[in-house]
Amino acid sequence: MAPKVIHGAIVHSISLGEVEIIENGTLIVDADGVIIALNKSSDEALSIPDDAELYHLSPGEFLIPGFVDTHNHAPQWPMRGLGQGLHILEWLDQVTFPVEARFADADYARRTYETTVCDFLRQGITTASYYGSRHAEATRILAEICLEKGQRAFVGKCNMDRNAPEYICEQSAEVSLRETRDCVAHIRRLPGCSDPKHALVKPVLTPRFAICCTSELLSGLGNMMKTDVDLAMQTHFNEAQEEIDATRQLFPDLAARSEADLYESFNLLNQRSILAHCTIMADYDKERLKALECGVAHCPIANMTVGGGFMVAPVRDFLRREIKVGLGTDSGGGWASQILSVIRQTMIASNAQEVISQGADKGLTLEEVFYLATLGGAQVMCLDDQIGNFQVGKQFDALWITTTTGLQSAMTPREEGDSVRTIYEKYIMSGDDRNILHVYVRGRRVAGSGQ
Ligand code: GUN
Ligand code: FE
Repeated sequence: MAPKVIHGAIVHSISLGEVEIIENGTLIVDADGVIIALNKSSDEALSIPDDAELYHLSPGEFLIPGFVDTHNHAPQWPMRGLGQGLHILEWLDQVTFPVEARFADADYARRTYETTVCDFLRQGITTASYYGSRHAEATRILAEICLEKGQRAFVGKCNMDRNAPEYICEQSAEVSLRETRDCVAHIRRLPGCSDPKHALVKPVLTPRFAICCTSELLSGLGNMMKTDVDLAMQTHFNEAQEEIDATRQLFPDLAARSEADLYESFNLLNQRSILAHCTIMADYDKERLKALECGVAHCPIANMTVGGGFMVAPVRDFLRREIKVGLGTDSGGGWASQILSVIRQTMIASNAQEVISQGADKGLTLEEVFYLATLGGAQVMCLDDQIGNFQVGKQFDALWITTTTGLQSAMTPREEGDSVRTIYEKYIMSGDDRNILHVYVRGRRVAGSGQ
């Protein structure tokens, strides 16, 4: 790959609440996809590599970092939107498990995952943390497809050895653990994936949730997490009251105070843990997440539609306590494959939380939510030293956004004299995938509506 020099408007997060808008910037990306310079004005001197390809963004175009989806069920992509109004455990039984069971068929998995990964890339999701189904072969296929298509991903074989219908439940904890170890090893053997820190596709432990896992299984996974310091873990955490109650019944002692105690007792909570939902959170739950440095995958579409009814996660309080937070499509618990939809729902949910908390938890600003969708998500996945913004030394995972009229995108039209700030705001709040001309991961173009 030739190095790239890209001139134009650049928008990225520096910190929570601080979005930097560079009207006339220059980015230099080396042959490995690493950002080696970010010049903020055309006056600064640049040393441009001889063989570099030059790109100029037109007026009305700008670059943003790629979106990070911290919670995504790849096998649920074909069922997004189904089962609205069902409660979480009914929804799993009636809608989700029958769909996930289809992934026992490797041909079906390959066909479906090809389209799934392409769709998420087209929506600008350059990094995703995927739950696979419980099938090892389908999960290996998912990891291979992410690598082929160039998406940065965590991929996990879902563990579930109880409280699921026979046609999808795993035979035993032993089989589940063996297949998980094989899957982890397989992903690390994929081309370029042997360095556990810098691989594009990495394995992640994925106990579905405690209701579907025996103590033996959780304990085995916890041992893997403890001994393998590069392994991340993801699960569903305090998603809905019905789920919390069922967890307490299954683990009356361990979960008596909090699901945090339960997962911690199995060595599953540390800075590499990604906990989805976290809607019903007592002070104690929040204190444990902060102390254990776990990250939250906030999935407001799922929380306010399927699964829980109308659940609102206390994101402002998480941020106040400096708990890491990213956004998740939860596709298909959420109906969207677009992070833009999740961003908008995050704004709505945070306004609801302001009302619920009687003003104590102020609604989130656009700057803050954009941060969650990019740098915040990178922190949750412990990838913020590699991606999340355009800091020199990070990898170039980026979206080239166009707002040219005539695209037939849903975006509020750009008008004469609009500032970069205005077109950025219009895109985030009303644009869609047609505005994403090019999607880059590690400097390589992997998708986009343009040529
Ligand atoms: N809890 C256990 N499994 C699931 C799932 O697939 N989706 C959601 N939203 N919650 C879960
Ligand atoms: Fe989920």
